[in-house]
Amino acid sequence: MSWTATILTLFPDMFPGPLGQSLAGKALNSGVWCCDTRDLRAFGFGRHHAVDDTPCGGGAGMVMRPDVVDAALTAASRNDGAPCVYLTPRGRPLTQADIRRYAAGPGVTLLCGRYEGVDERVLEAHAVEQISIGDYVLSGGETAALVLLDACVRLLPGVMGSAESGVEESFSNGLLEYPHYTRPAEWNGRAVPDILLSGNHAAIARWRHEQSERVTRERRPDLWAAHLSNTTRSSVQEG
Ligand code: ADE
Repeated sequence: MSWTATILTLFPDMFPGPLGQSLAGKALNSGVWCCDTRDLRAFGFGRHHAVDDTPCGGGAGMVMRPDVVDAALTAASRNDGAPCVYLTPRGRPLTQADIRRYAAGPGVTLLCGRYEGVDERVLEAHAVEQISIGDYVLSGGETAALVLLDACVRLLPGVMGSAESGVEESFSNGLLEYPHYTRPAEWNGRAVPDILLSGNHAAIARWRHEQSERVTRERRPDLWAAHLSNTTRSSVQEG
């Protein structure tokens, strides 16, 4: 069985979208992964197939009904233990560790919300993981689901050309990646750092590590603090 994304959405035409192109598209066409999209509207009530209602307690917007989402989740339920993820800005931040966990399993069920969100009770009842892709608000969970899928699919066996490019990359060691350069050695008055042309592989590895640390310190003080406390902890354990 190929790795399967079951996607519950009011906009099924948004999938596979950009993931039908490039590496992910090739992997989709060759059966490495499969995109099983389900239309939430099909589970709506009444003549208009209503999927939402006004929020209890008042306020703006509409909330997706628990009975509609429950029917959709039940109809799409899989017996392979694939986790169910609801994409929401209220969720826990998505990390590369989550992506590795999802990619290593049989696939994921992704619930994409629109409007103000989904009734909390159905999320509890189905033990749905609530995940955010960042501190900004999208118009719906679909684009967030595409981001999550892109990150998973590139890790599936056979998708990325060089196995190495998946190992040494940002976040794999808790640091951002070092900067990259290619030819020409000088471009518009800017030179490639000499060390990278030295052929001294140990010195290059050292330089890259220092650059990773510098970039992480400057751009991501949160990751840098976590890195420092991890390295302190492991050197205490070793010592
Ligand atoms: N839906 C709307 N905004 C989102 C976000 N930042 N992450 C995940 N899902 C979302």
